[in-house]
Amino acid sequence: MSAFKAVYLVYSASLFTAWSVNGFMGNSDTFTRKVSLHMNPGLTPPLAPSPGVSILHARAVGRDDTLHFLFCSGEAPALLLVHTQSNESVVTVNWPVFLSRNPAGSVTVKPEGSVRYRSALVLTRLWEYDELNSTGQSALSPYELRDFDWDDVNQTVDYTHHTAQLCGRHHNFSNNASLCLQFSAFESSGREEAWPSLLHHANSSQLRVLLRGMTPQTNRSHFALELQTVSEASLQTRVDVHRSIDDEYTPSIFQVSEWVWSHDNHSSVVGFSQWKPVVYQRDHPAIEDAAPCSHSEPVDVTQAPPSLIIAAYFTQSLVTHGLNVTYSVTLSDPAPNSTQYLSW
Ligand SMILES: *[C@@H]1O[C@H](CO)[C@@H](O)[C@H](O)[C@H]1NC(C)=O
Ligand SMILES: *[C@@H]1O[C@H](CO)[C@@H](O)[C@H](O)[C@H]1NC(C)=O
Ligand SMILES: *[C@@H]1O[C@H](CO)[C@@H](O)[C@H](O)[C@H]1NC(C)=O
Ligand SMILES: *[C@@H]1O[C@H](CO)[C@@H](O)[C@H](O)[C@H]1NC(C)=O
Ligand SMILES: *[C@@H]1O[C@H](CO)[C@@H](O)[C@H](O)[C@H]1NC(C)=O
Ligand SMILES: *[C@@H]1O[C@H](CO)[C@@H](O)[C@H](O)[C@H]1NC(C)=O
Ligand SMILES: *[C@@H]1O[C@H](CO)[C@@H](O)[C@H](O)[C@H]1NC(C)=O
Ligand SMILES: *[C@@H]1O[C@H](CO)[C@@H](O)[C@H](O)[C@H]1NC(C)=O
Ligand SMILES: *[C@@H]1O[C@H](CO)[C@@H](O)[C@H](O)[C@H]1NC(C)=O
Ligand SMILES: *[C@@H]1O[C@H](CO)[C@@H](O)[C@H](O)[C@H]1NC(C)=O
Repeated sequence: MSAFKAVYLVYSASLFTAWSVNGFMGNSDTFTRKVSLHMNPGLTPPLAPSPGVSILHARAVGRDDTLHFLFCSGEAPALLLVHTQSNESVVTVNWPVFLSRNPAGSVTVKPEGSVRYRSALVLTRLWEYDELNSTGQSALSPYELRDFDWDDVNQTVDYTHHTAQLCGRHHNFSNNASLCLQFSAFESSGREEAWPSLLHHANSSQLRVLLRGMTPQTNRSHFALELQTVSEASLQTRVDVHRSIDDEYTPSIFQVSEWVWSHDNHSSVVGFSQWKPVVYQRDHPAIEDAAPCSHSEPVDVTQAPPSLIIAAYFTQSLVTHGLNVTYSVTLSDPAPNSTQYLSW
């Protein structure tokens, strides 16, 4: 069994208010926001968070609204998005309560009346499958992300480029194996340089998932990441797969998958998460390092995900949905010649 180098899944969680779900945004979008990052907002010594617990706040202010992104590493890592119809709204964290056994209500966005939309994306589990035969596969016990040891995000924050990285590992991981989440916020629209070159704009943030150095437990292992979203009860969710017209930016990948939240009908989409169904097996990938990934249909999840920020912020009734994104890469295949992965 050979360990393999890296799997990348680029995942972008975004919000939009004015843009039709069926159209891809052009580069003509000139809307900008002023973005600033704050590590552990309002935390003052001598109070210190427990190891592995942190909140990175990205505040993206428009002319008359604000987007707050809270990237939090307490238990399962989560990205919370709150859109307010005010350019002066603030995030307040009551740290003693946040770090207590019952954190409910310790994270607030004020003025409360300005909040237009809130939802969160939580990364809950890393599944490993033993693909036994062509008819079936068996899931091994999942790596629960709530149990990971998370590194200090503070050391990685780039206040100029609005990025940060959260890396962690499960106690069962082999030496050097890690799962990293790279967060980015944006002041204006553009396209990421690294493949798959997702579009971003001032209303979006992005999470890039990197799985490095994993030693698979079986000969034919492949992996899936379980994602859960939390939103208010009135919203519905579905995954749309669009053909992408911008293939020149992501050679060989013709699709973009979007997990959208909407009111009753298609035209009133309020938020979405988007990704290109592709993983790469190298840091600087070539076309042949790309492998497809697939997703399962979203299902209702009866319990809120095990994430500190969810318990701390959402006090009203919620709905949780989950899905798995599966990488069609068999990690125990010899990695150096990755051409074979295209055959999936
Ligand atoms: C971003 O949000 C602003 C304010 O809600 C809106 O005017 C603009 O059209 C949005 N841009 C995109 C690309 O969704
Ligand atoms: C904030 O919003 C108010 C009301 O919409 C507006 O009058 C004011 O100019 C805005 N401030 C900034 C700095 O954009
Ligand atoms: C294939 O895998 C499935 C699921 O683990 C198992 O139930 C089935 O017996 C296997 N079939 C063969 C032919 O090994
Ligand atoms: C971790 O290792 C223990 C002991 O070897 C095992 O019982 C458990 O199932 C493993 N968990 C995962 C997620 O691999
Ligand atoms: C983050 O790190 C810097 C130095 O690297 C330190 O001065 C600062 O206090 C740290 N902030 C937090 C919130 O830990
Ligand atoms: C673990 O990482 C260190 C430092 O990056 C490297 O020197 C070492 O070879 C790695 N070990 C394995 C087993 O990959
Ligand atoms: C891996 O597969 C080879 C041949 O397909 C087999 O001989 C070996 O026992 C397998 N190893 C494990 C750990 O399953
Ligand atoms: C569907 O959307 C249209 C346009 O936004 C709106 O007029 C209509 O009331 C919506 N229908 C439902 C059932 O929400
Ligand atoms: C993800 O896959 C695992 C294993 O197949 C399954 O038990 C779990 O219910 C799936 N999660 C979701 C949200 O569909
Ligand atoms: C990959 O495989 C192809 C065909 O099997 C071979 O021609 C090529 O040299 C291999 N590349 C590397 C880097 O091993």
